[in-house]
Amino acid sequence: MDQTSIAYRRGAALPSSNPFQRLASLLAGREPALSPIAMTIGEPKHAMPSFLGEVLAENLADFSRYPAITGTPEFRQAIAGWLDKRYNLDGMIDPERGVLPLNGSREGLSFGAIAARDQLAKPMDHPVVILPNPFYQTYAAAAHVADAAAVFLDATPNGRFLPDLDSLNEDLLDRCVAFYIASPTNPEGSVANLKYWQRLIKLARKHRFYIFADECYSEIYRKTPPPGVLEAAKAMGEGFANIIVLNSLSKRSNLAGLRCGFAAGDPDFLSNWSRFRGLAAPQVPMPHQAIAVRAYGDETHVEENRRLYNEKFEAAERILGPILGPVTPEAGFFLWLNVSKWGDGVKVTEALWAEKGVKVLPGSYLALDQADGRNPGRNYIRVGLVAPYDETVIALERLADWLGGAA
Ligand SMILES: Cc1ncc(COP(=O)(O)O)c(C=O)c1O
Repeated sequence: MDQTSIAYRRGAALPSSNPFQRLASLLAGREPALSPIAMTIGEPKHAMPSFLGEVLAENLADFSRYPAITGTPEFRQAIAGWLDKRYNLDGMIDPERGVLPLNGSREGLSFGAIAARDQLAKPMDHPVVILPNPFYQTYAAAAHVADAAAVFLDATPNGRFLPDLDSLNEDLLDRCVAFYIASPTNPEGSVANLKYWQRLIKLARKHRFYIFADECYSEIYRKTPPPGVLEAAKAMGEGFANIIVLNSLSKRSNLAGLRCGFAAGDPDFLSNWSRFRGLAAPQVPMPHQAIAVRAYGDETHVEENRRLYNEKFEAAERILGPILGPVTPEAGFFLWLNVSKWGDGVKVTEALWAEKGVKVLPGSYLALDQADGRNPGRNYIRVGLVAPYDETVIALERLADWLGGAA
């Protein structure tokens, strides 16, 4: 692939508004024929853990205190312990220097690239941040605030919706300071295997850049737990240098509004970042950290959460499968449906809303037009399975009805 077609000036990569604002403009003034059902936002709707109120009440007094930027020792220990168990890390995570609390993973994703650029101090005016396309829109903001050129790697079905590492040349890799990647991916729900991670880790170490591995959907999977970047690094036997994993309670524990997550991995990067964050970043409230300690120590509510999603994916397979073929992703809670037979994603979104009251997101709103006009999301719609089961089934049936009738 010609690299010049995927490199952008600073700022040029920033979407002019977020996908939901664009969707609101697209559908403004149109009355749906049926009662509306929203399948758009990635906001979990299943119950919050039952112990939430109890832990909050026990720790209420700590709202009066400024928390330490490094988090409480209990928080760091809980994260290190959970990662250790989840990824069989044999105690390799250093709870003192290898874990940082974040106000949700988004906060760390937004500002991590600045720290990467500063710590690497590569001798150039505008370093490069590499990100997938389609992408979680915060990654583009991260490139912008780090004063870096954003380079988008198309995620296509041929590459299992993972950025194509073969499309990167040496010059670009040398200029790279931060490589953003989600696994499981949003919107496609693909999972990077250990081999993919290890290849990326080798590139990061050879060309000196940091991997920001966004694993916030790691616990929302169908059958097999997705492998993580830390697990891949452990098998290589050289520690966690150049790797930062980000995760949170938002999807795992249905606590998106708590804004509680973490970064873990490279202890040198994280302890330097923590010093800067001590000047610049908002701390995580201590009662939130206490909730995290309890939540990361409990898998029962997470298993129930997965079961509820999987029930809805089974319904989706039953209802949409006969029309679209297999629709279930490896992980995450979105359907990423190729609707090119019915028009592009925007047209299908408009029709589904007008005729069926089902609100979905056009795939092109989650991706950027490349220099040659390609948009890897154009043929797709994203359908979130976050609503309760019965409502989800009604929406899926309406969707099938429209697809079946309009074909
Ligand atoms: C891919 C991806 N990364 C990160 C986030 C942010 O999650 P958090 O609530 O942890 O900030 C989201 C939220 O929707 C997401 O979809």
